[in-house]
Amino acid sequence: MKTTELENVLHTLMCDAYKIEEAMSETLQEMADAANHADVRTIIHNHVSETKSQLERLDNAFRQLDAKRKDVESPITDALIEQGNILYKGCEEGPVRDAALLIALQRIQHQEIATYGSIRALAKALNKPELESLAGSTLDEEYASDKRMSEIAEGFINVTAAYEKLAA
Ligand SMILES: [Fe+2]
Repeated sequence: MKTTELENVLHTLMCDAYKIEEAMSETLQEMADAANHADVRTIIHNHVSETKSQLERLDNAFRQLDAKRKDVESPITDALIEQGNILYKGCEEGPVRDAALLIALQRIQHQEIATYGSIRALAKALNKPELESLAGSTLDEEYASDKRMSEIAEGFINVTAAYEKLAA
């Protein structure tokens, strides 16, 4: 099937989204294990199952479009995960590490929001209502967990972390 250039851009974005979700499903369990506060651990655990259903949703989207997923390079995903590791792995277990974990996650989260927002916008422009709706569902979930992470971080984790002992 012939595709337009914009459809190719959309397809690459979808492959990239898949790559982000896949990388996250590998890294989230490690992040959950590193968390101290139950609320931080819970939100990361919730994210694990959410990520799984988002991967399934993307698989559905590829099927609906009768498009094959290709393995794309995603240097920004690798960099965000690596940057997150640098942030939280240098902290001892406790509120400071929890604060760093939430920051690391939210930076990735914002990348996902930008990606799904673009997929939804292109699906709309290209008159692909099913894809527009699938991307919209994932986007809503990403926004909701980002909001919840901000509530936890700004609600008590950052303040508790601010009273921790001085870094060595
Ligand atoms: Fe996601």
